[in-house]
Amino acid sequence: MNEEIFNEIAKRYDNEERRHLAGIILNELKQHLDNTEGKVLLDYGAGTGLLGLELSDSFEKVHLADASSEMVKVLKEKIDIANIKNAQAQEMNLLESDTIIKADTIIMSLVLLHVKDHQKLIQKLYDALSDGGEVYIVDFDKNDQVTHPKVTNGFTHGNLKEMMENAGFKNIKVKNFYEGKEIFVKTDATVLIASAEK
Ligand SMILES: C[S@@+](CC[C@H](N)C(=O)[O-])C[C@H]1O[C@@H](n2cnc3c(N)ncnc32)[C@H](O)[C@@H]1O
Repeated sequence: MNEEIFNEIAKRYDNEERRHLAGIILNELKQHLDNTEGKVLLDYGAGTGLLGLELSDSFEKVHLADASSEMVKVLKEKIDIANIKNAQAQEMNLLESDTIIKADTIIMSLVLLHVKDHQKLIQKLYDALSDGGEVYIVDFDKNDQVTHPKVTNGFTHGNLKEMMENAGFKNIKVKNFYEGKEIFVKTDATVLIASAEK
């Protein structure tokens, strides 16, 4: 992943466009998340916590994990300032090491496109999920207009489903939920959500 890039942009990540898109994603996630009381959430690739921190009221415990040390610094500052007692931020890259965290719910938004080994990361999410737990992967629908040397230009529903099936997930559903202007490498794009159970 582009660790240096995310380290470099961490402090100015929360601009208007990113907040706007995160608000739309959060709204979509909330439609799926029910019975969260007493449960543990892992927001993997949490960035500055635009999703996970907003969900901290609904869960018993929230782990915000990111491979970028600067993103984790921003997360820790936000947690301190808002005095959020049930949230914890930590540096984590499941492609390089395992985690002992087990979560009942995992969200991973706009992260898969930044990694090379998609299948491995999906497998690691499966391993980090408790039995009966749920995963929500938000990413871009496949978009041939986008070309960038360091990001995957989205995923087809079939490709995502296949990787999730290979990892062992069941009840996999993928749907598009938002079309935005210039949201993916300055290109108009569609955002999808894949949900599944362990
Ligand atoms: C585009 S940001 C998305 C942040 C947040 N999930 C959101 O939707 O607002 C992608 C984040 O994924 C993190 N990331 C990329 N590859 C990662 C990996 N292998 N493990 C953990 N985090 C990763 C980056 O550091 C960055 O903070």
